[in-house]
Amino acid sequence: MSSRSDAIAILDYGSQYTQLIARRVREAHVYAEIFAWDTPPERVMARRPRGFILSGGPNSVTDPGAPGLPQYVLDSGLPVLGLCYGMQLLAHALGGEVAPAQTREYGPATVELTDAACDLFIHLRPTGRAVDQPSGESASQRISESANQRIGESANRRISESANQQISVWMSHGDRIESVPPGFHPIARSQNSPIAAMADPARKLYALQFHPEVAHTPRGQDILRAFVLDIAGCAPGWTPASFVDEAVERIRAQVGDALVIAGLSGGVDSAVAATLIHRAIGDQLTAIFVDTGMLRQGEPEQVVETCRRVLGMKLVAVNAIEEFLAALGGVTDPEHKRMIIGEKFVRVFEREVRRVEQAVGREVRFLAQGTLYPDVIESRGPERQQAAKIKTHHNVGGLPPDMKLELVEPLRYLFKDEARAVGAALGLPDSIVWRQPFPGPGLAVRVIGEVTWERLETLRAADAIVREEIDRAGLSFAVAQAFAVLLPVRSVGVMGDGRTYADVVAVRAVTTEDFMTADWARLPYDVLARIGSRIVNEVQGVNRVVYDVSSKPPATIEWE
Ligand code: XMP
Repeated sequence: MSSRSDAIAILDYGSQYTQLIARRVREAHVYAEIFAWDTPPERVMARRPRGFILSGGPNSVTDPGAPGLPQYVLDSGLPVLGLCYGMQLLAHALGGEVAPAQTREYGPATVELTDAACDLFIHLRPTGRAVDQPSGESASQRISESANQRIGESANRRISESANQQISVWMSHGDRIESVPPGFHPIARSQNSPIAAMADPARKLYALQFHPEVAHTPRGQDILRAFVLDIAGCAPGWTPASFVDEAVERIRAQVGDALVIAGLSGGVDSAVAATLIHRAIGDQLTAIFVDTGMLRQGEPEQVVETCRRVLGMKLVAVNAIEEFLAALGGVTDPEHKRMIIGEKFVRVFEREVRRVEQAVGREVRFLAQGTLYPDVIESRGPERQQAAKIKTHHNVGGLPPDMKLELVEPLRYLFKDEARAVGAALGLPDSIVWRQPFPGPGLAVRVIGEVTWERLETLRAADAIVREEIDRAGLSFAVAQAFAVLLPVRSVGVMGDGRTYADVVAVRAVTTEDFMTADWARLPYDVLARIGSRIVNEVQGVNRVVYDVSSKPPATIEWE
């Protein structure tokens, strides 16, 4: 993938944190790619990594059939950092002793650096900051930090004479290292792990029993930076701008002078992918935007305006609202709604591709997709397989399965936040770059019961108020998703002297890291009050607003 940026290969042993390792390395502006631990060596080495990180994992190295340490990793002579299971692998493979710990260690712990001079801890040396305060990652800070290190060296010596430096870490292991392999020496200890980290600096082999990649290890990023930048010697060249340059070249090489079609959903991924491709090949790209009638207030107009006027893209905007509404008539079952919208979308899209081909008198050869890295990682973790299953269920409005088009997927190696950064670098407006996730079937799964134009319009008006008030309160980044749901229930109310019998709107706002679990957002009462009173006052036909206080699980984020 990355021809010019230096790279780190992460071998995945099934840890729930593997993706986090990649993200942390990339936060140090170095490209990291995840490979299943048993990926053929040629494939891994083709990426020309400058170092390896071995992830944690659920196994015990002494289990029969436990995943092993591939010989090519050691033979490569490249620096290796083993984390948790990765540490045990290194110890086991190189002649150390691994045994079940007397006490399993899960959760926060304190680790004492018994060799604070080790190059893995280069950024932890006293700099006048509180020990657990991360040092951040700006280049100037790094420079001043290394100057500080020299200044701090003598102070450091004084500290190690009196007491070893301690850091807070996150532990999660059942086994521990009893003795280090020849060539290694212990560099840290904790109460339950006399060897909580070890190093063989001559061979550039390092290992940590704890997890530097999680937020609960506040100085973890400093340790990873030391490995990636200082030990593996990677240049911190992985930035949105460098990604754009490389991606543009790659797209040109893949596509040549062929025609490309991109489907725009209104979401960030498809918008960034199309913009990147447009940057690479200009008018060889035609974007197609299908207005299903299921988008939120102002979205169709915004997609059209941004693509045509701001980005100067060739855009076919199709109003297919009547078609979608007709297909949804009388349908109330959520899965049935999803299926209908998915199928309809494919049909409309295919029709429009044919129209584009007729208009230009040439065949379209490529289809652009905003596929992201978490969807393509070949991983060994059970939760990945579960995630994959949930994703399939959500994949509505995606690729026409029998279309004979080749794929262009320029975001295939990016995490969502990186795709957003690339979008910003390409000049997409914040309203698109920072858009909340939105279900493929759109408002059809937020109008509970039958979907009609009137009900969609009622929901759109209520939903716009929810988003507006959350924005106005400065909470847009604090909540992951906030929206309105129109219930198929009417309730009694009173307005003026009269009794009403009108619709109920539910407001849903959640906080979440990964959308697999979520909690309801503790919105301030005054924000809720404004949302409630504005909806009943401004949205015709609604006389009651309720707030959803369910977490996921057992509820889901969407109501259908
Ligand atoms: P749930 O409701 O399963 O949602 O907790 C998790 C995340 O997925 C989104 N979602 C969908 N996305 N098609 C999609 O593309 C769908 O059918 C769909 N259903 C839910 C939801 O908005 C949340 O971000």
